[in-house]
Amino acid sequence: MDYKSYVAQKLNIEGASCEEIKALIVTPPDTSLGDYALPCFKFAKLLRKSPAIIAEELASSFIVDDVVTKVIAVNGYLNFTVNRTTRAFKILIDILLAGENYGASSLGNGKTVCIDYSSINVAKPFHIGHLSTTVIGSALYKIYKKLGYTVVGINHLGDYGTQFGKLIYAYKAWGNREEVEKGRVKELMRLYVKYHDEAEKNPSIDDDARAYFKLIEQGDKECNELFKWFKELTLIDVDKVYKELNVTFDSYNGESFYNDKMDVVISELQEKGLLVESDGAKIVDLEPYGLTPCLILRSDGASLYATRDLAAAIYRKNTYNFDKCLYVVAYQQNLHFKQVFKVLELLGKPWAKDMVHVAFGMVSLEEGTMSTRKGKVVFLEDVINKCCEKALAVINDKNPNLDGKEEVAKAVGTGAVIFGALSSSRIKDIVFSYDKVLNFEGETGPYCQYTYARTASVLKKGGEIGDYSGYELKDQEYELLTELARFPEVLIQSAEKYEPSMITRYAVDVCEAFNKFYFDLKILGEEEVTKNFRLALTKATSTVIKNALTLLGIKAPEQM
Ligand code: ARG
Repeated sequence: MDYKSYVAQKLNIEGASCEEIKALIVTPPDTSLGDYALPCFKFAKLLRKSPAIIAEELASSFIVDDVVTKVIAVNGYLNFTVNRTTRAFKILIDILLAGENYGASSLGNGKTVCIDYSSINVAKPFHIGHLSTTVIGSALYKIYKKLGYTVVGINHLGDYGTQFGKLIYAYKAWGNREEVEKGRVKELMRLYVKYHDEAEKNPSIDDDARAYFKLIEQGDKECNELFKWFKELTLIDVDKVYKELNVTFDSYNGESFYNDKMDVVISELQEKGLLVESDGAKIVDLEPYGLTPCLILRSDGASLYATRDLAAAIYRKNTYNFDKCLYVVAYQQNLHFKQVFKVLELLGKPWAKDMVHVAFGMVSLEEGTMSTRKGKVVFLEDVINKCCEKALAVINDKNPNLDGKEEVAKAVGTGAVIFGALSSSRIKDIVFSYDKVLNFEGETGPYCQYTYARTASVLKKGGEIGDYSGYELKDQEYELLTELARFPEVLIQSAEKYEPSMITRYAVDVCEAFNKFYFDLKILGEEEVTKNFRLALTKATSTVIKNALTLLGIKAPEQM
């Protein structure tokens, strides 16, 4: 029984199709008013009436039956109460049959979404500031996949700029292959810092560095081999972290990939009369749109970050023919993306409207949580390791004989980091606190994992799930089932709003509903029908928690 369709078919709203009505129906988290609700706000314009009046009129003309047993209008919402027993059994069976596919949909079939995330800089540290882009992007990647979209994950590497000329200079002057192989990014950073110290005393080396950079651009073999090597070394370091966080990419085409793809963009800008001179530089004037100019070419002819993003956007459209292209990048780059999207629009690209800057706030570490000297970068790897160590300490304290406890601690530590970064709506700045993200009783990853392990343990002890027909369910069970039923629509909403935090929130809600059920009602030791129903409900909960955590890149250990 598809309740939303059933209800939508019974409603008659002039000018709105059954499909449109169905799409608006939601399952409210609080079931005291009803099991489904239709917000009437969207019809106000169409029907030239207030939402409250529309809801009331719809309620009075609705004929109830033994599927939909009650309809009431409250504040512009039309609330439906359905036959709870029928609905509950239906939800349960849906989840148990679908298993790990519960929540999957064909909504995105035939559509492609490109997601630009993590996008690290070569030879620079992978630090706490990259946490959000990496985990938000990766979660969106998995969510869109689950909804049936073709998804292209892109790591738009920062691998272009004069700093690579400086690095080559520094490597040649003070580096050696062995040290660099061993220390990787840390050693490259050391060389880079040394370069700057040296350049202060002897500015003429900047000319050499610039010359090296030119050589890279001109395709010089030795310089390009070094450059390629620096890139590989950086990727070895970041890939370790990506593995821990279950993050993957389909493309590592970074900024330098567009070196030979910018000329066409520049000619096109020129042809359309968009390129103007300003102090020797070439810009697109965006003043009519309330934006500062978009810099395309510097006075020395060098391209800029925006130039490469324009080329990248056009390349992505041509290559993947995306329906949407997301950029998961900090809000500090708001202006940059506004400019790039505007220039694409001015170039007459109708798909400029499909570009979305998925902005997020800053992550800082709580004072005193890391023994780093002020101003030093905090490596993401160190944050993850520290969380895993702390998780292991908790396990050693509470459950020292746990099988495979190192693995479990890893899952809990990384889970805590990911969940912590996805816990508030993305635009908010967050202060990362080890104690907070690792609190087993808070709204955290470990809390959800712990609840999952609880379901696993009940199921293990409970054995086979037999017949539960005729069971009359309790309120706590109905509440929990209602929560479980929301999963598919929470997924869709989180994709629409680009908000993985809706899934962390949801996972916590499910765990809370389960724990209420678990502490209020007995499962094992009850008579057969009751035990069977409660085991089935536990199994369904277990499935939903695991599916939700998996979308976030978090593992769900069976024991903790
Ligand atoms: N590497 C850039 C940075 O660290 C982020 C790149 C974002 N993606 C893009 N297409 N501009 O700031």
